[in-house]
Amino acid sequence: MLSVYEKQLLMDLWHKLIPVAEDIGGEALYRMFTTFPKTKTYFSHLDLSHGSEHLRSLGKKVVEAIAEGTMHISTPLFTTSLGYLSRYHAYQLRIHPTNFKLFNHCMLVTLACHLGDEFSADEHAATDKYLSAYAAVLAEKFR
Ligand code: HEM
Repeated sequence: MLSVYEKQLLMDLWHKLIPVAEDIGGEALYRMFTTFPKTKTYFSHLDLSHGSEHLRSLGKKVVEAIAEGTMHISTPLFTTSLGYLSRYHAYQLRIHPTNFKLFNHCMLVTLACHLGDEFSADEHAATDKYLSAYAAVLAEKFR
C-alpha cells in the first residue's frame, strides 16, 4: 500500500524521467538481457545491442507507460488504463510473470546508477512497491 507521500514521490520522480526515457528504458532492458539472458527469447526480432535504436525506442515506451501509471495509482483507473498492456503481454506476447520481477530489479539498478545520490531510499522503496503493483496488473491475465 502506497502512502500519499509515496504517491507524490513517484509522480515527481517519473515525470522527471520522461525527457530521458529512451536512456533509462533502453538501459534497463539492456541490463535485463545481460543479467537474465533467457529474457532475450521474447525479443529475437530486435537488435539488442547496447544503445540500439530498437532498445531506445521500446525503452521509451516502457518508461512512458510507467510514468503515466503514476497518475492513477490506487484508483480503478490504474487497472483499466493498463488493460491493453496487460492483455498484450499475456495473450499476444505470452510473457511469463517471472520476467516482470527481473525487469523491475533491472529498472531499480538503472535508476540508482542514473540518479546516484538523488535516488533517495524513500524513492527506492516507493518505486519497488509501485513496480510490483504494476507488474501484478501486467501479469494478471497470464494463464
Ligand atoms: C513494467 C514493466 C513493463 C512495461 C511497463 C512494459 C510496457 C511495454 C510497452 C508500452 C510496450 C509497447 C507496446 C506497443 O507498442 O503498443 C511493450 C512491448 C513489449 N514488451 Fe513490455 N513492458 C514491461 C515489461 C516487459 C517484460 C518483463 C518483457 C519480457 C521479458 C516484455 C516484453 C515485451 C515485448 C516482447 C514487447 C514487444 C516488443 C516489440 O516487438 O517491439 N515487457 N511493453
